[in-house]
Amino acid sequence: MSNIVILGAQWGDEGKGKVIDIFSAKSDYVVRYQGGNNAGHTVVVGKDSFVLHLIPSGILHKGTICVIGNGVVIDPKALLEEIAMLEKRGVSVDGRLFVSEEAHVIFPYHRTLDELKEQKKKKIGTTKRGIGPCYADKVARSGIRIIDLLEADTLREKLQSNLDEKNAVLTKIYGVENFSFDGLYGEYLEYGKKIKKYVCNTKRLLNDAISKRKRVLFEGAQGTLLDVDYGTYPFVTSSNSTAGGASTGTGVGPTKIDKVVGVVKAYTTRVGEGPFPTEFGPDLMERIRQKGKEFGATTGRPRRCGWFDAVVVGHSIMVNGIDEIVVTKLDVLDDLDSIKICTGYRYNGKVYNDFPSSIKALTACEPIYEELPGWQSDTTKITSYEKLPRNAKNYLKRVQALLHTKIVLISVGSERSQTFSKGA
Ligand code: GDP
Ligand code: IMO
Ligand code: MG
Repeated sequence: MSNIVILGAQWGDEGKGKVIDIFSAKSDYVVRYQGGNNAGHTVVVGKDSFVLHLIPSGILHKGTICVIGNGVVIDPKALLEEIAMLEKRGVSVDGRLFVSEEAHVIFPYHRTLDELKEQKKKKIGTTKRGIGPCYADKVARSGIRIIDLLEADTLREKLQSNLDEKNAVLTKIYGVENFSFDGLYGEYLEYGKKIKKYVCNTKRLLNDAISKRKRVLFEGAQGTLLDVDYGTYPFVTSSNSTAGGASTGTGVGPTKIDKVVGVVKAYTTRVGEGPFPTEFGPDLMERIRQKGKEFGATTGRPRRCGWFDAVVVGHSIMVNGIDEIVVTKLDVLDDLDSIKICTGYRYNGKVYNDFPSSIKALTACEPIYEELPGWQSDTTKITSYEKLPRNAKNYLKRVQALLHTKIVLISVGSERSQTFSKGA
């Protein structure tokens, strides 16, 4: 088993950065396949903490090659800032970072349109990074790709025609200022020059690597419930964060992918608007938010917190074909005297185990809980599954049984060393 997809099985921020960093030690390539700098993946190495938004979380392993695939949307300014941040902190990316020619480019008008849409009453709660508007242009076939930044005449033509449209919308519909062609054209040509050395045919690079039996890790961003098809639409992001996205977003066919690993928190969080059946009431919300440091790695917004939802994760296992589960942040539940797991939903007097497609139904669903005793002891220094308190083991066993999927790894802190396998 060499080529693995690692993705979030809840609403994002499951601890994918930490898990991908650990798996990277045994990978030759790590590739991002969707999303953009809406992601915030935290990797803690000793006293150093890195938050990666665009560059794969494998970058901290010197021998690992990192790829930003065609399915990603790239804000070149954010990319250059992230490269500079890493270089400044002693992590060199030259010769080990590759960017797809076919990835789409985020422009300031995408960010502005994202912000303007978010001013409406019915907002999504986006990260305002311009992700949705950029993907909308991609699908509408008017997007500008990385390769276009390297061809001055192509960029001129495409940017001019995009700006004609965007400026009309900005001034006539929203009544805000328009963007000047000259300013943007010069700025983005300059970005093109700066990122040229990283740009290549990444689908060829990855497929050649796979034919040489190199190990490729596909790094999911966001989470399954934020997927544009399988999430809580419209309260989702604008890409396929699910396993299928790993193929379409890199040019590596599904037959080349050996395994899908789902990362879950021992509870649930979500940032932004949208239904969340197992959301805590205010007291527990504050307690878990503080203990779990549940504030967004990208926007700093407080994350909404709730109990573990086996309906949500069951849905993720199905749509991703998840083979194995990693459970993170078990330690955050250490102080609780009892812990709930949602095993189903009650709606209109009936019990459902399938995640509903209707947002109206989901909003009205009442979670059905099973309650298990807590363990009320510190797990952060525990280094093996056997040493976990009995009630913590029982909690994990129950989660595993409800999901019919093996838990392979458990995390009890943000550091690399605070991780152990579950064993048989
Ligand atoms: P990602 O987007 O899935 O990569 O997750 P984030 O980095 O946005 O959020 C996860 C946060 O939890 C980060 O601050 C991690 O350092 C932290 N974290 C990861 N695993 C654990 C764990 O097992 N316990 C605790 N307490 N924190 C963890
Ligand atoms: P990582 O990779 C959690 C959420 C936003 C909003 C919705 C749409 O760190 O897990 P967007 O800016 O993508 O159009 O916002 O998706 N969102 C995330 N939530 N973790 C993320 O990434 C997220 N990326 C986007 O909060 O609800
Ligand atoms: Mg995150």
